[in-house]
Amino acid sequence: MTSIAAITGAASGIGRGTARRLLDDGWTVVAMDMSEQGLAKLREEFGIYGPRLDTVVADVTSEASLEKAFAEITQRHGHLNGFVASAGLLRTGPLDSMPVNEWDDLFAVNVRGVWLSTKHAMPLLKAAAAKGDAARVVFLASISGLRHKIDSGAYAATKAAVIALTKVWAVESAASGVLVNAVAPATTETPMVAPHLNPGSNTRYRTSGTSPIGRIAQPVDIANVIHFLMSPAAAYVNGTVIPVDAGTIAAFVPAGVKV
Ligand SMILES: NC(=O)c1ccc[n+]([C@@H]2O[C@H](COP(=O)([O-])OP(=O)(O)OC[C@H]3O[C@@H](n4cnc5c(N)ncnc54)[C@H](O)[C@@H]3O)[C@@H](O)[C@H]2O)c1
Repeated sequence: MTSIAAITGAASGIGRGTARRLLDDGWTVVAMDMSEQGLAKLREEFGIYGPRLDTVVADVTSEASLEKAFAEITQRHGHLNGFVASAGLLRTGPLDSMPVNEWDDLFAVNVRGVWLSTKHAMPLLKAAAAKGDAARVVFLASISGLRHKIDSGAYAATKAAVIALTKVWAVESAASGVLVNAVAPATTETPMVAPHLNPGSNTRYRTSGTSPIGRIAQPVDIANVIHFLMSPAAAYVNGTVIPVDAGTIAAFVPAGVKV
C-alpha cells in the first residue's frame, strides 16, 4: 500500500524539499499551499512523479479554506499516513518596534495555522491509525524556538509555541496511534531567508549561529530528518523536537574563536 502524506507550505523551501524526499521514497504526496501559482510550478517541475503528486490550494489561516481542502483530500485519498506543517512566515526586528500587524501575521500562520491545519488533518490520520497503519505528524519548529536570538523575538515566540503544541499533541493523540514530533532547523537556504542573506542586505536577520560544519542547511538536510520521523524506524519516537543544525547550538563559541 502506498503511504500518503499532506504537506502545507509545499510549494517552496523545506515543504517542497520534503515533498520531493517522500515522493522519491514512493509516497503519494498532497502538496498544500496558499499559492496557486507555486503549486502550478511544482506540478510542472515534479511532473516525473505523475499521479503520486496531488496539489490542493489551502490557506492555513482560514478554517473555510482548510475545510474545503480536507474535504477534497478525504474524497480523493480517504486517509493520511503523514502530515507535515511547513507553511510559515518570517518577520524580523526588535520587539519594541515590531508592528502589530507583523506580530499578528506571524502568530496567525506559524501558530494558529499549524494548530488549525493539524486539527483538520487529524481525522484522516486517525483513520489510517485505526486500520493499523502508520500516522505521523511533523511540525517545523526552529532552532530559534530553542535558543532565542535578538531581532527575532516574535518569530522565536511562535516557534516556542510550536514546540509546546508538539509535546502536548504527542501525548494527547498517542492513544489514537498518531505520533507527533518536530524538527528545529537552523538557517536553511530557502526563499524565506534568501533575501536576508544577500550581500549588503540589512534586514536585521541573523543566522542562528555559526555552523560547525561550515555551511548553512539545504532543504534536503531537513527533509531527510522529516522522512526519518515518518518512517517505520521512528515508530517509538513521539513528542520530540530534533535540532537539525549541525551542532550550531550544541556548545557556546566565544566571540572571535574560529571553529
Ligand atoms: N528557512 C529557514 O532558515 C528555516 C529555519 C527554521 C525553521 N523554518 C521553518 O520551516 C518552515 C518552512 O520554511 P521555508 O524556509 O521553507 O519557507 P518558504 O518561504 O520557502 O516556504 C513557505 C511556504 O509557506 C507558504 N505559506 C505561507 N503562508 C501560508 C498560509 N497562510 N497558508 C498556506 N501556505 C502558506 C508559502 O506560500 C510558501 O510556499 C517554516 O515554518 C519556517 O518557519 C525555516
